[in-house]
Amino acid sequence: MTERETNPDARLVIVSNRGSVTFSRNDSGEREHSRGAGGLVTALNALSRQRSEAVWIASAQSDEDVRVAKETSETGESHEVEGLRILLVEHDADAYDLMYNHLANPLLWLVQHGLYDLPYSPALGHETRRAWEEGYLPINENFAEAVAHLLESSSEGGEPIVLVHDYQLYMVPHFLRERLGKSAFVSLFVHIPWPEPEGWRILPGYIREGILKSLLEADIVAFHTKGYARSFIRTAHETLGAEVDEEEGVVKYEGREVWVRPYPISIDPNEFEELARSEEVLEQEETVKSLPGKLLLRVDRMDLSKNIIRGFHAYDRMLELHPEMKGEVTFLARLQPSRGDIPEYAKYAGVVEKTVQEVNQRHASESWEPIVLSMEDDFMLSVAAYKNYDVLLVNAVRDGMNLIAKEAVVANEKNGVLILSESAGAHEELGEHALTVNPFDIDEQADALYDALIMPDDERARRAKSLQETIRSNTIEEWAEAQLEDIAAYREWGD
Ligand code: F6P
Repeated sequence: MTERETNPDARLVIVSNRGSVTFSRNDSGEREHSRGAGGLVTALNALSRQRSEAVWIASAQSDEDVRVAKETSETGESHEVEGLRILLVEHDADAYDLMYNHLANPLLWLVQHGLYDLPYSPALGHETRRAWEEGYLPINENFAEAVAHLLESSSEGGEPIVLVHDYQLYMVPHFLRERLGKSAFVSLFVHIPWPEPEGWRILPGYIREGILKSLLEADIVAFHTKGYARSFIRTAHETLGAEVDEEEGVVKYEGREVWVRPYPISIDPNEFEELARSEEVLEQEETVKSLPGKLLLRVDRMDLSKNIIRGFHAYDRMLELHPEMKGEVTFLARLQPSRGDIPEYAKYAGVVEKTVQEVNQRHASESWEPIVLSMEDDFMLSVAAYKNYDVLLVNAVRDGMNLIAKEAVVANEKNGVLILSESAGAHEELGEHALTVNPFDIDEQADALYDALIMPDDERARRAKSLQETIRSNTIEEWAEAQLEDIAAYREWGD
């Protein structure tokens, strides 16, 4: 038996920090799994289902994940779950904490979303350097090691393709090249915004340059929008003096040519249609339908970038300006707990809860609670809410894409109106048929909420139809195909 036959699935490798599932044990001691968090998981799920030979490498998060990781590292086989091939990587817990809670999420996330209050923060120093050297770098190296190990166990089948995802893994291209040289095609997809060069300059030199140099060791660097791709090209030019061609989307650095491309990520509409019909969702719909009045919905991770507090202030303002709407609408805010070990996030969650209490106290009646805050992690309940909203609020300060806007629109059965931040990546595609808002302008958002709630049926139907058509014209399939076509073109060009 050849090595290829023992491991025929290793030619397309997807690498991301968060995997599609996380494992646990139930009360009877049996192994169970639940869905990983965030929109990236939705998209990569669809991608790896399409390419059944793909192996998805992700971090072991729970204790049971670590057990799964140990089992697979002993056998060298990927783990199959719901038709996906998954290989979990075990990390040193302290290093992971430094990478996730001290470097990637507070620092890179806040820099790339422009969320700092610059007169006060960030305050960088030796702790930042430690998080980089003892956290971010070793975790990225561990990932590269896992990829190299997998590929070495299956040397046949042509040049492998390694698709690395997101800001937790910026240094993986560098470590992969150290191990594999040019023998693999490497792309890195950045799923969050890329700032203008002056925004990137907040980072200390060793991070600022280290990350850019690693990204320029990939063959393709990908983003969700043309705007982010352009900002990246400018940053490479200004930070490293790289030769760039903005029009062609090319950066030349140290003898290499890197293609910088926008691929707006999407969803698999069929998956959401099926989910919408599933027993579990039908059961959950009763809860959603029992809420009084029209349904105003938001579904987000509890994240600073999502602009949750201004959303409540806008609703508060709308009720103040239009008291006749009291009791006629309920705001269901489904906020999935996220990154709670990071002080900025814990503080934000506290302010969110306090704001909900204040707005409710101001406007509630005996039979009506203006905002229903729901913070449990229940995807089926979210899909039930997607089906039934009259108005969906997506008012992010900045957002790479925001897949909720796409998932919810496809599942919705009520010609719901989408209110969409002009600073969400999804706005490039969906803005025309949504009500656009400036995420910082509370009165504008209040007006949009009111307009959406009283919008005539024919206009709702027209907008909902156009949104659906737009989403269906660029599904996850097109997203994957566009990348694979460019990979083929790049290889042909390189030969
Ligand atoms: O797309 C942004 C992203 O940070 C993904 O990388 C991540 O999987 C998701 O959102 C959820 O965040 P986290 O993995 O930190 O819970």
